[in-house]
Amino acid sequence: MHGTGVDSGAVDVTKGRQILPANVVPRHYDLTLEPDFEKLTYDGTVIVDLDVAEASTSISINTLELDIHSTKITSGSQTISSSPDVSYNEELQTTTISFDKELPKGSKAHLEIKFTGQLNDKMAGFYRSTYKNKDGSQGILATTQMEPTDARRAFPCFDEPALKAEFTVTLIADKKLTCLSNMDVASETDLTSGTKRAVKFNKSPPMSTYLLAFIVGELNYIETDKFRLPIRVYAPPHQDIEHGRFSLDLAARTLEFYEKTFDSQYPLPKMDMVAIPDFSSGAMENWGLITYRVVDILFDPKTSGASVKQRVAETVQHELAHQWFGNLVTMDFWDGLWLNEGFATWMSWYSCDKFYPEWKVWEGYVTDTLQHALGLDSLRSSHPVEVPVRRADEVNQIFDAISYSKGSCVIRMVSKYLGEDVFMEGIRQYLKKHSYGNTRTDDLWDALSKASGKEVAEIMRIWTKHVGYPVVTVTENESDKTIHVKQNRLLRTADLKPEEDTTLYPVFLGLRTKDGIDEQILLKEREGVFKVPDLDFFKLNANHTNIYRTSYSPARLEKLGEAARDGLLSVEDRSGMVADAAALAASGYQKTSGVLNLLKGFDSETEFVVWDEILTRLSTIQGTWMFEDQRVRDGLESFQRDLASEKAHRYGWEFKDSDSHLEQRFKAMLFGSAGLPGDKTIVQAARDMFARFSQGDKTAIHPNIRASVFSIVLKYGGSKEYDVILDTYRKSNNSDERNTALRVLGRAKDPELIKRTVALTLSGEVRDQDLYMPIAGLRTHPAGVEAVYNWMTENWDELVRRLPPELNMLDSIVSICTSAFSSREDLARIQKFFEGKNTRGFDQTLAQACDAIRAKTAWLERDRDDVYNWVNSYSAKSIKI
Ligand code: BES
Ligand code: ZN
Repeated sequence: MHGTGVDSGAVDVTKGRQILPANVVPRHYDLTLEPDFEKLTYDGTVIVDLDVAEASTSISINTLELDIHSTKITSGSQTISSSPDVSYNEELQTTTISFDKELPKGSKAHLEIKFTGQLNDKMAGFYRSTYKNKDGSQGILATTQMEPTDARRAFPCFDEPALKAEFTVTLIADKKLTCLSNMDVASETDLTSGTKRAVKFNKSPPMSTYLLAFIVGELNYIETDKFRLPIRVYAPPHQDIEHGRFSLDLAARTLEFYEKTFDSQYPLPKMDMVAIPDFSSGAMENWGLITYRVVDILFDPKTSGASVKQRVAETVQHELAHQWFGNLVTMDFWDGLWLNEGFATWMSWYSCDKFYPEWKVWEGYVTDTLQHALGLDSLRSSHPVEVPVRRADEVNQIFDAISYSKGSCVIRMVSKYLGEDVFMEGIRQYLKKHSYGNTRTDDLWDALSKASGKEVAEIMRIWTKHVGYPVVTVTENESDKTIHVKQNRLLRTADLKPEEDTTLYPVFLGLRTKDGIDEQILLKEREGVFKVPDLDFFKLNANHTNIYRTSYSPARLEKLGEAARDGLLSVEDRSGMVADAAALAASGYQKTSGVLNLLKGFDSETEFVVWDEILTRLSTIQGTWMFEDQRVRDGLESFQRDLASEKAHRYGWEFKDSDSHLEQRFKAMLFGSAGLPGDKTIVQAARDMFARFSQGDKTAIHPNIRASVFSIVLKYGGSKEYDVILDTYRKSNNSDERNTALRVLGRAKDPELIKRTVALTLSGEVRDQDLYMPIAGLRTHPAGVEAVYNWMTENWDELVRRLPPELNMLDSIVSICTSAFSSREDLARIQKFFEGKNTRGFDQTLAQACDAIRAKTAWLERDRDDVYNWVNSYSAKSIKI
């Protein structure tokens, strides 16, 4: 057997799972729901057709915060049980019905439950979302969010992804309200009494409970016939439905593209996509009825900029990819979440690239997805891509950069290894073989092996079953023209213990030389020696398609800087190299001064993506040095201005229709990067635009630079500017503009204004879904970091009440409120606060925040003097000039 030693320590994901007994298997649900917008409840009846797999005298079904009125079990014409003898297990979230008469093995049974549920305001299960009508009255919409484990909150069900069943849904509601579900309408029947009707939907194909959806409310829609099936975008009446046009058209083209690419017809009769005013994540891929946060589907080209457009495209294409990958073929349990999210993430980039080649999204992938993955995975408290999930409340925390970004990087790596065409052939086979079924990671590797003839699992399983990734250290041997490479796990805290460094990752070196790229060299051992045709020029990890960082000697790094200037490196190489160098400095592999010099050397760089990485990395250094000597912080700020100003002036901040997408994003970034640290001309320009905006000229600020203009005038202004921005948040009917305003408010540093921002968060004016925005703004300056932490600790009970830990928002709040600190004292303060508190639902995120602080503490201790000296000499030089 190969590689037995290599894979030691791999996790067994099936151990200790809390799952339902397998004595009965659901086949069909007949579900009827009648929401009551006055009482904010709904009455429901569910009839589940069951196969009895083992002789049974009890049935356990998931329920959560449901009021069960009656249960009845029948087998053929026989009533087995209609007693109210149910028991509830809070830990497992199950209701168990026990009965005396035995259901024989191999028989069929019906389980009927009548219940009442809450139309809650927690954005989970069957919940209510509210909005203001144009006449000022309040509108209500009932909608669902089931993933991961809240279908049980909506109705009693066997709430596990592998327990696929067919669904027939009926909604009873006022005739004037729109009723939607996964399927199309089968019949509408007026009820004899009153103004209501029953809308019955056609039976769905077999599907997982977490993908079920139903919506009742007043909704407008637009429709397209550009796809073979009807596609609609719906929104509540206070929104301009025309803003759904971009997503609608893109959905039509994308569905057609996916049908072709996957060689698999979209199996439902329609696709509806709905904008929901209160929504906990960005979007949800419910089969045939995708729900979205408003800003992630409605796009007004007149009032929103290029990056918003890209985000909407990404979101639409991501959720549509799930219709196959996730919905048609589903992971068998939550430890396989990465299959869903990693693939949909990769697929959204793949299709964005096909539809908008001029956006060059793969170049941006290296600064975006790859860096997210490498960032989180450099913490001790990260987790393997395939992560053991035992309990429902552990699931939410793994919707993170590991499942999404590292998962996507694993897909990208294997697609490059096999070649995109062969990879897609494997995906087609996988989808065909497992349609309407459930899979594990190995099923994907099997399909890819069959398509390629290569041993895929052998290489890939280490990447999904083990936490972390390596740093590859390169040394050179001039005499025999070889390079020596050695891999070790990378930990940002720079305190790796030998027992944490036992995994040997199969690393594709991706050696770039003057002869091209060698994609085949694989480092499987700890170290290896490889021939290089010419030591004058080489680089590892060409285009950064592989999951590792490279540590070069300072001399080699300098040579690579030259190679970048000489045009020998791709955009991905350049940005990836900057990212690696900066991340390695943060982890103790080199000096921060070296990185600052490297950044300075990129002066002649012309590409947006590379500048994006440069400025992000500088801002990471600034973030870590946030509580340090003011002179050093000022010096770093001047450096930022010096890097960006000249270019910002050259490119300007006028936006023309003829500007390409990337030009727009580049200009916008430069404007902000030079303006925030005080470029005089830009500050003045921002003030002028803002003055016109304040006087009512809503076109005075181009949406591409709205956030920067707001941030700049607030930084160099005060309460007058704050009031205008707050007013924009309150009055604008453009969600993107409102969000920008809300995010920027936190940047105000004046103690009085900090107080106002903090007070705003829980005043009732900010939707729970948006709570993180003003506090993320506060995190950008020291007084704000302190304020936000105090806000969290002082309002802890209220926060837990509003954002229950088992849902997915509290953990991001904890992360935002804690992880900006960088000292041991602050870490101790945070640990003390949570000591003795129940950290269920956010324990992993908290551990990651603490690790991030530890990493910064260690970085500062290593490089405090180094950066001080660098800034001193930099400032001395700039003064001379
Ligand atoms: N399946 C997720 C939505 C989700 C997230 C459900 C967390 C439950 C918990 C959906 O497909 C998704 O990934 N949405 C992303 C948007 C996407 C563009 C990355 C999101 O919500 O941010
Ligand atoms: Zn997703």
